[in-house]
Amino acid sequence: MKPLAARTGRISTSQTVAIDAKYKRLKAEGKDVLSLGAGEPDLDTPEHAKQAAIDSIRSGRTKYSQVTGLPELKEAVSRKFARDNGLVYPPSDIIISGGAKHCVFNALLALVEEGDEVLIPTPCWVTYPELVRFLGGTPVLLPTDMATGFKLSAKDLRRAVTPRSKLLILNSPGNPTGAIYTETELRDLATVVAERDLYCLSDEIYEYIVYDGHRHVSIAALGAEIFARTITINGMSKAYAMTGWRIGYTGAPPALSAAIGAIQSHGTHHPANASQYAALAALQADGSFPETMRKHLSECRALALRRLAGISGLQVFEPQGAFYAFFNLEAYLGRTFQGKTMANSMDISEYLLESRLLATVPGSSFGLEGFMRISFANDLKTLDAALDRLEKGFKALLPA
Ligand SMILES: Cc1ncc(COP(=O)(O)O)c(C=O)c1O
Repeated sequence: MKPLAARTGRISTSQTVAIDAKYKRLKAEGKDVLSLGAGEPDLDTPEHAKQAAIDSIRSGRTKYSQVTGLPELKEAVSRKFARDNGLVYPPSDIIISGGAKHCVFNALLALVEEGDEVLIPTPCWVTYPELVRFLGGTPVLLPTDMATGFKLSAKDLRRAVTPRSKLLILNSPGNPTGAIYTETELRDLATVVAERDLYCLSDEIYEYIVYDGHRHVSIAALGAEIFARTITINGMSKAYAMTGWRIGYTGAPPALSAAIGAIQSHGTHHPANASQYAALAALQADGSFPETMRKHLSECRALALRRLAGISGLQVFEPQGAFYAFFNLEAYLGRTFQGKTMANSMDISEYLLESRLLATVPGSSFGLEGFMRISFANDLKTLDAALDRLEKGFKALLPA
């Protein structure tokens, strides 16, 4: 048989998804397994969103609708961008897609050509480098560390740019660290983006999940020059507990949004109408649901940070946003359990899943070895029980 397309050799299933699949298999086998792995809020989708989807189905709004999204949803997103982000995207420059992940893919399809370099502050969401590679581009992983708050400086960005650089990907609040860029930091990065003729993809999916008075700022709102170069991506999954509905949205300047619309028209068409009506109802409601989510996650964060501080040897980064805790495993690398040496973060994640029935995600999934990510989006009782397992798991690796 003839071979598959060469590009399939450049992409692999995400490790986070692989660990989640193993967790689900253990669960299906009836094992008492707990997960701190998946990036998914535990709260249920708001009732008004569910009802709107049901109503749309019952009233027969079940046929093809507009390729780039329902006009009323695009209007609601346009209002949201103006209200929350100071961004003026008319509905014609908004594309509704199947989750923020789909928005990222569309944007990269529109921008990345063979040989283009895409600058990605790292640790980063696993999907960015995979998709860039898939499209024949080169992900340039720009290391950040705990000492600098896991943020890329304008100086380091400037140093990394080459004539092949096309695009900077920013994700603030960030996965896996929860780091948030301040307005000043974003202004400095925006200056380099403009000066070096780059585009910027700003993934703002954790926008509403911020703690301790930290503020989310959209980089595209910082001036006409950066606005013209930025694709702003957001969605319903995290703050509205709507991961399974698959609704994300993109705001971009006209030439880019037109290209993305054309790609979507042939690639997938619009996302399911029922999901779009659910998203519309969620956006039209008062802002109380994201605030309920934020408060709930604040409590989870406090519990997680308190429990992690009690585990000897972990150096924990305090997240400013999102719902992950990211910590250094140095004290545990090289330790052994039942004859197996923990050589890297994946070994420790596998050990925790197999021996402690606890799913976590190794730092290597995000391009930073020697770290681990846990998601603390859970009900407090389950979170506490999972953190018990984590603590016992780490204790068992230390000498008696
Ligand atoms: C940084 C980041 N962007 C996008 C997504 C995907 O969001 P969606 O469910 O809307 O596709 C995730 C999910 O984990 C994420 O962490």
